[in-house]
Amino acid sequence: MNFKPKPLFHLYLKTIYSPLSISKHIMDPTLTRTIHSDPPQDRDDLLCSDNNDRHQQEVQESSSPETTLVSLESPNGYLSGEARVERAWAHWSKLGRPKFIVAPMVDNSELPFRMLCRKYGAEAAYTPMLHSRIFTETEKYRSEEFTTCKEDRPLFVQFCANDPDILLDAARRVEPYCDYVDINLGCPQRIARRGYYGAFLMDNLPLVKSLVEKLALNLNVPVSCKIRVFPNLQDTINYAKMLEDAGCSLLAVHGRTRDEKDGKKYRADWSAIKAVKNALRIPVLANGNIRHMDDVQSCLEQTGCDGVLSAETLLENPALFAGFRAAEWVEESTKDGNLDQADLLVDYLKFCEKYPVPWRMIRSHVHKMLGDWFRIQPSVREDLNAQNRLTFEFLYSLVDRLRELGVRIPLYKKDTDEAKISADGLAS
Ligand SMILES: Cc1cc2nc3c(=O)[nH]c(=O)nc-3n(C[C@H](O)[C@H](O)[C@H](O)COP(=O)(O)O)c2cc1C
Repeated sequence: MNFKPKPLFHLYLKTIYSPLSISKHIMDPTLTRTIHSDPPQDRDDLLCSDNNDRHQQEVQESSSPETTLVSLESPNGYLSGEARVERAWAHWSKLGRPKFIVAPMVDNSELPFRMLCRKYGAEAAYTPMLHSRIFTETEKYRSEEFTTCKEDRPLFVQFCANDPDILLDAARRVEPYCDYVDINLGCPQRIARRGYYGAFLMDNLPLVKSLVEKLALNLNVPVSCKIRVFPNLQDTINYAKMLEDAGCSLLAVHGRTRDEKDGKKYRADWSAIKAVKNALRIPVLANGNIRHMDDVQSCLEQTGCDGVLSAETLLENPALFAGFRAAEWVEESTKDGNLDQADLLVDYLKFCEKYPVPWRMIRSHVHKMLGDWFRIQPSVREDLNAQNRLTFEFLYSLVDRLRELGVRIPLYKKDTDEAKISADGLAS
């Protein structure tokens, strides 16, 4: 598979977050519409690789299937429950039991961002959610939305789906390049309601079961799922057990319900996550409320989970898992970590030069990483907003300008942060 993205129109938001059905059989046909192939109106939809042929060639070479191919014997198949659980753990152990994991984020957990987080302590990462039907139908969508390289492991590739055959078709195309194929069972957005996927499948558990079984019985890599909790704890536990019995090899639990969409407003319920962890035998990951390494420590202790996922905090502070924390979480025992968000942005831009992505993803990360800096110098943000065609030159000079204006907001570090959580368990 050639992962070199070509400079083509970009359809991600227009497709994933537009009212498309993903299964002609299940969806209201009136909601189905054809993907159009007009060139992008917005320059931000173009890839950042216009003058980057040499880099693209390197990327292509470094990410050739030969170097990334995994050859696991069928990890699931028709196995007894016990053997399946053993296999789930053997796979997890083979991956080094990663604890610090980049959560799936549409338009935000793309390859350069994953690589940045990995550089700063992340031990595994999810791709953004991919739309299984569009993935099977559209070569352009595949080549642009799923890029990876050999260093981008362990990797979860996440799909939304409501048709087992389509999901399997999509999953087969990525399985040589990832460590889990993940099913998104947690997206609570209106578009997921209309497209009938994500958290809206919580209303149709037999369908969820059939999705998991289809992958578990037919793929060479294990299947994982990411769920939200039900308002009722027993419902959540029954749901999780059903997934495990259907062949799910790893479960990530976001401790908010489908209606608790606003992560800032609602705290994730770690006690529900703990109950799921206690009820299952496969590895379980906790998601929600992770702002710094103290939270990671507390979450692992309180839930007993095998790892944590972080999303929103990582967008602002991709060095979270290396023990860096934003100024708002500073305590007496923290000190200037000699790293700041502008440094991280420069690192990110370098990854983007190497692994091209659409400019709108880059723009989004610039706003997230430098949000606090822009609040001090809003004129710099205005200049960024006025720039309808971005270039790397412009973005590097934007960082220089902020520095010349004297803006610097350090990230902070506790001496203990790195030492706290060892590779094979919690520190005392
Ligand atoms: C920008 C953004 C995009 C997201 N996209 C996805 C996605 O594609 N798939 C998914 O399962 N969750 C997605 N989520 C949810 C996160 O993976 C995560 O479950 C949620 O933000 C809670 O984690 P947090 O408290 O660390 O932010 C997204 C979240 C954000 C902020």
